[in-house]
Amino acid sequence: QKWSTELRYQPYHEWPTDYLEKLKQTTNDSTWRLAFHIQPVTGLLNDPNGFSYFNGKWHVFYQSYPLGPVHGIKSWYHLTSENLVDWQDEGLAILPDGPYDSHGVYSGSALAVGDRLFLAYTGNVRDQDWQRHSFQLGAWLDNKNQIQKLSEPLIVNSPKGYTQEIRDPQIFIFNQQYYLIIGAQNEQEEGKILTYKSSDLVNWQCIGEMTFSDDLLGFMVECPNLIFIDNQAVLLFCPQGLDQKQLSYQNIYPNTYVVADGFDGETNTLNNPSSLKNLDEGFDVYATQAFNAPDGRALTISWIGLPEVGYPTDEEGWAHCLSLVKELTLKDGNLLQRPVKELEKLRLDHHSFNGTLSSVQKIYSPQENRYELQLDLDAAAQGTLTLFADDDTNLGLTLSFDTQNGTMTMNRENAGTPFAKEFGTSRTFKIPQRGLSLQIFVDHSVVEVFINQGEKVASARVFPKKGQTAILLEGTTGIFSGEYWTLRPMK
Ligand code: FRU
Repeated sequence: QKWSTELRYQPYHEWPTDYLEKLKQTTNDSTWRLAFHIQPVTGLLNDPNGFSYFNGKWHVFYQSYPLGPVHGIKSWYHLTSENLVDWQDEGLAILPDGPYDSHGVYSGSALAVGDRLFLAYTGNVRDQDWQRHSFQLGAWLDNKNQIQKLSEPLIVNSPKGYTQEIRDPQIFIFNQQYYLIIGAQNEQEEGKILTYKSSDLVNWQCIGEMTFSDDLLGFMVECPNLIFIDNQAVLLFCPQGLDQKQLSYQNIYPNTYVVADGFDGETNTLNNPSSLKNLDEGFDVYATQAFNAPDGRALTISWIGLPEVGYPTDEEGWAHCLSLVKELTLKDGNLLQRPVKELEKLRLDHHSFNGTLSSVQKIYSPQENRYELQLDLDAAAQGTLTLFADDDTNLGLTLSFDTQNGTMTMNRENAGTPFAKEFGTSRTFKIPQRGLSLQIFVDHSVVEVFINQGEKVASARVFPKKGQTAILLEGTTGIFSGEYWTLRPMK
């Protein structure tokens, strides 16, 4: 399939029905399909949208192009859940069929208001000269999951001094007012976050750029999210083209965050903000969406995939997935990200192990790459854990740790089918110089590693060949103990 612009923007209903059926077939035949992660039925998934709790259920939407593994004309695809683990497919929810979103229903957020869920998103329109026009749009979801778009935009275009690169509104309530923050670009092509206020969700007034850093935020900010934890504020966002001097990263675009002492809604300022930090130390996390859930938790879900990067499943007609749902907490001002407790529901059979690090030993050889692994190492540990390992060569995805020097490296150079090599095949990051605890979720072609109860997270897509499932451990010093669970697929 050659993906011309024309083809990518062809309305879904103009595609022959047998095309979609065939695509479903190829997708289902893929050995890299996932068991307990949200993945597209066919085609491409990108950002999570509208992550919320409403009408007794969790809701998440995602950016969808169902007709192929490319960024074609986008819609919102809807899923609901009672437990954040098992997700029910609710189908395509917002289609690019209106005058303000004819060329894409882009990312946005949701807020429960009364007995309805308010959805705020970006409508993308291309004019005859293929120039972009951006509108911030609203829609209501009722308790029967029916969606009604508002007939008029919430915000037309961008304020003076900003380009049409303005998208991904997050709405939230702060000091009894509605706030909307959004990724933007000024005419000097610098990334910014703009803030709007409203008392009725319909009339929005821009109060300017949110101030939280003297640093330039690259050429464009995507997907900003402001959440509150214990009276502190955490801002998550994706500064495209961020200068490496400000923060070192290797992914094409970083997903970053700052922690602040609070948000001043009048001056539009984060108080005493930290420096920018990487949200994930691995290869593929982007466009994370966060919200303050009514049960008091701050929850996130991310796109595991990156813009402008090819993945091996492109050959099979589908691309990308969402991360597991994580809970954010703060400890001494540091952000912790942990898989939500509900994920324990996935656990099936269990066994434990322990030993002394030595030359390569096989910890386990699962039938399938579908498990949770807990591994604890003592403060002197130095070694390598290999996942997705090949029985003949012992090669796979490696996690090398050195607790004495306080470093960890994730390397996927020799793991399964290579891809995205131009962005480097390893990621090295700091870990504390003490005992190490790893909680690892492996699901066919994705791995999420939680280090020391969520002090760091490292996620990666990995595309193993048939039979590459072994778990190996080797090292020079230290003792280890751990637990292993087979995980069931989501229902
Ligand atoms: C981020 C992003 C958003 C945009 C959406 C379009 O990955 O580019 O800024 O709304 O994807 O699918």
